[in-house]
Amino acid sequence: MSNVDYDSLIPNNVGLASDRRLQRALEKWHPGFIDWWKTMGPDGFQDLEVYLRTAIGVDPEGWARFGYVKMPEYRWGILLAPQEKNRRIAFGRHKGEPVWQEVPGEYRAMLRRLVVIQGDTEPASVEQQRYLGHTAPSLYDMRNVFQVNVEEGRHLWAMVYLLHKYFGRDGREEAEDLLMRRSGNQDKPRILGAFNEETPDWLSFFMFTTFTDRDGKMQLEALAQSGFDPLARTTRFMLTEEGHHMFVGRTGVERVVRRTCEIMRKNNIADPTDTGAVRKLGVIDLPTMQKKINFHYSVTLDLFGAEISTNASNAYNASLKGRFRETTIDDDHLLHDSTYPVLKHVNGKLVNVDEPAINAVNSRLCDDFIADCEQVLATWNKAIADHGYDYRLSLPSRAFHRAVGEFSDIYATPDGNVVGQAEWERRREEWLPDNDDLEFLLSLMEQVTEPGKFSHWIAPPRAGINGKPGDFEYVRIAA
Ligand SMILES: [Fe+2]
Ligand SMILES: [Fe+2]
Repeated sequence: MSNVDYDSLIPNNVGLASDRRLQRALEKWHPGFIDWWKTMGPDGFQDLEVYLRTAIGVDPEGWARFGYVKMPEYRWGILLAPQEKNRRIAFGRHKGEPVWQEVPGEYRAMLRRLVVIQGDTEPASVEQQRYLGHTAPSLYDMRNVFQVNVEEGRHLWAMVYLLHKYFGRDGREEAEDLLMRRSGNQDKPRILGAFNEETPDWLSFFMFTTFTDRDGKMQLEALAQSGFDPLARTTRFMLTEEGHHMFVGRTGVERVVRRTCEIMRKNNIADPTDTGAVRKLGVIDLPTMQKKINFHYSVTLDLFGAEISTNASNAYNASLKGRFRETTIDDDHLLHDSTYPVLKHVNGKLVNVDEPAINAVNSRLCDDFIADCEQVLATWNKAIADHGYDYRLSLPSRAFHRAVGEFSDIYATPDGNVVGQAEWERRREEWLPDNDDLEFLLSLMEQVTEPGKFSHWIAPPRAGINGKPGDFEYVRIAA
């Protein structure tokens, strides 16, 4: 069933036409989604033609089509990666059994929760990014945020499909609720903290897509291992799209770094920490970028949940959520007799403590995430070094600024020193963006809509989308 049916209201490769009851349920959910998109999706750009990528299949070679679309007319579809023949469960209590095509009754609640938590992040980020089009530094960037947004919308569809198809009435209710919660709303916030933060400026957007979308990648990778095959196949295909979101983030920050360094060089700035001098040149100083890294990275780490977690251990034991690249790990995939080193706070110091591996599944996923982030930071630092500056951007200690897990009730500096609350509060603005920083960032934000032109504070990308030339009109903005 890998052919995609594009003629129906909801494009899909799951044979929707042959499941009338499900089709009707999803068609009933559809208007609510469109309504949510129009009210909470990109503000003010709904009638413009945008050069977007649409998933039209799941063949790695040709899964997407590019073309101009008005966003509300985007073909959000339900696409599952092809079924792997004879796939067997790779980990946990059910290791070696054939994967499940239906939800095992005993795991119903746990599985539904996993789907809902993943599903909730998708519309949340669209809401967070809703006003960015108004300050897009170029048409290229404007198109990219819209691309990310429509794909997060598709990811919501992916999770809603699972809820409708496999979880009956409570699934349908959860699908409704996914359209009711709102990022940052006091009464009905999104489920996870980082998805209630604001994304007010483009540096925030690039940091969010670097770090928070990368958490998304790690979560999807863990779910892609699931013994519940429809979840594994759905998340596998979502990962295909997720790559672009992280690309937008990594290259976005890199372009900001490059631009700042270029301008500093041109103006003979020897000390990149002279923020006053750098800001006068209309570019973002590196220390402010470091503070933004500290913020987005730390709130993203919270998304991994507690380092030592019974929930995660239960989900692993139940063969529902695995580890990053589970099948490539050389161990018993049961984790009953092994340990894993977990960073903990012991007597005022941060030290690695061997914990039962089965309890440390979150911590391990977090380690994999951090390794991935380090590679990103290396590309940013290369851009700085290329311009002859010895300033380095770095990831703060995982104990810094945490609200969840081992370090949530201690005060650690970005270097990983544990200090008192008073000292931490006093020095907070050395490490995290303060109002002046945020106001400065906002002061640089301006919408640039001439094809091929970029706002002063950011360098052009190395290449266009889908091989398009530099002055391509990614969004047809002129009336
Ligand atoms: Fe997503
Ligand atoms: Fe994403």
